[in-house]
Amino acid sequence: MPSETSLTAHEILQSGQHSGLSGRFDVPGDKSISHRSLILGGLAIGTTKVSGLLEGDDVMATGRAMQALGASITRDGDGIWHVTGVGTSGLVSPENPLDLGNSGTGVRLLMGVVAGQPLTATFCGDASLSRRPMARVTDPLAAMGADITARDGDRLPVTITGSPTPLAADHTSTVASAQIKSAVLLAALNARGTSIVREPTASRDHTEAMLRHFGATVRSHTEPDGTHVVEVEGEATLTASDIVVPRDPSSAAFPMVAALITEGSDLTIPAVGMNPLRTGLIRTLREMGGDIEITNQRTEGGEDVADLRVRHSRLHGIDVPPARAASMIDEYPVLAVAATQAEGVTRMLGVEELRVKETDRIAVVADGIAAAGGDVAYDDASMTVTGSVIPGGITIDSQHDHRIAMSFLTLGMVSAAPMTVSGCATINTSFPGFADSMNGCGAALRAGEPS
Ligand code: S3P
Repeated sequence: MPSETSLTAHEILQSGQHSGLSGRFDVPGDKSISHRSLILGGLAIGTTKVSGLLEGDDVMATGRAMQALGASITRDGDGIWHVTGVGTSGLVSPENPLDLGNSGTGVRLLMGVVAGQPLTATFCGDASLSRRPMARVTDPLAAMGADITARDGDRLPVTITGSPTPLAADHTSTVASAQIKSAVLLAALNARGTSIVREPTASRDHTEAMLRHFGATVRSHTEPDGTHVVEVEGEATLTASDIVVPRDPSSAAFPMVAALITEGSDLTIPAVGMNPLRTGLIRTLREMGGDIEITNQRTEGGEDVADLRVRHSRLHGIDVPPARAASMIDEYPVLAVAATQAEGVTRMLGVEELRVKETDRIAVVADGIAAAGGDVAYDDASMTVTGSVIPGGITIDSQHDHRIAMSFLTLGMVSAAPMTVSGCATINTSFPGFADSMNGCGAALRAGEPS
């Protein structure tokens, strides 16, 4: 295939060795912030201009759902969108089920939105999303007064009739999850009084930051035992306010690891979001000996961003503590790939939440590394990888999990024989143009053949 042909539409990709990544690698806008800009923009009074929106499948599904609920959303240029909101209680019942595709964030945050308004919506999604637990969100929303039915009590499709007078929440979550926290905070916008959400450690705080940006009153603090507490004042009015979406640190993880593990690499990844609740992978890779220079730290559109310069490094294994899991939860698959190239043992601890992502990421990552000839062990809450030569030469199915697809394509950059990944269209959920951007910096990804 000629090199100028885009690989974006290919279901099967193959990666082999190359002589290092170099130059400038632009990653797309942050997925979490992109979802929230369409949702909160739709709940605000006035028009919000969003710049740098991630135009991936997940975010587009959220945009379509918000349109079906009554918000007006238009694309006015590359990554430039305008959202005209209807206020916190102006949405309407959609005519058809809201299909959130592959997106846990989209479906769970929108459940919170619907639960806080007197309207009815049914939520559905793809095979992966339909397997994921929903009671973690629907239980606290039911406690606020929403009427909810779910398949088997915990799975999509879910139908929610929101309450005209939602009760303020007092919810203690057993997991640090921004999706749970955000669903409750969004439902609480129409409750009377102060709602409280507690989580065992702080999860990403983009909902809180954006609610403040739109004028809501949100407070947060951490208790001496580490419990993170967030409070929002109900009966809130949100006022439209422009948003500049930083580039996604979770997407930057792939070129970052690819550059660290391939000889000859010297790569710059500009303007990456540096919210401290998202930078656990950078910290971890640096502890492993990774040469990641953080330069030009600045604030753009109210968000901390920096340029990352990443050079090939000799990595060594470490223990990654459970307390760090929330700040890098989506990055463990590609960290496991980095760990195959580190000297010694890397133990990823307290990562049980990986089991309920787009796939059971502990099993899918570990089984894939083992099938490629790597040295890996796992249990319900941890994964241990010992660095070794990876023979490769196998095919991995993404199972509708974008980060599985990108992780194993990254592994194929250092395996002795190429790695083939099927189900690569799913990469578009979070990282449109991934393969072309990689090749633009020196990778050797190509269209693969069915095995
Ligand atoms: C997200 C929260 C995380 C993360 C997901 C995005 C968000 O999920 O895995 O990719 O934008 O709120 P959990 O809240 O389930 O940990």
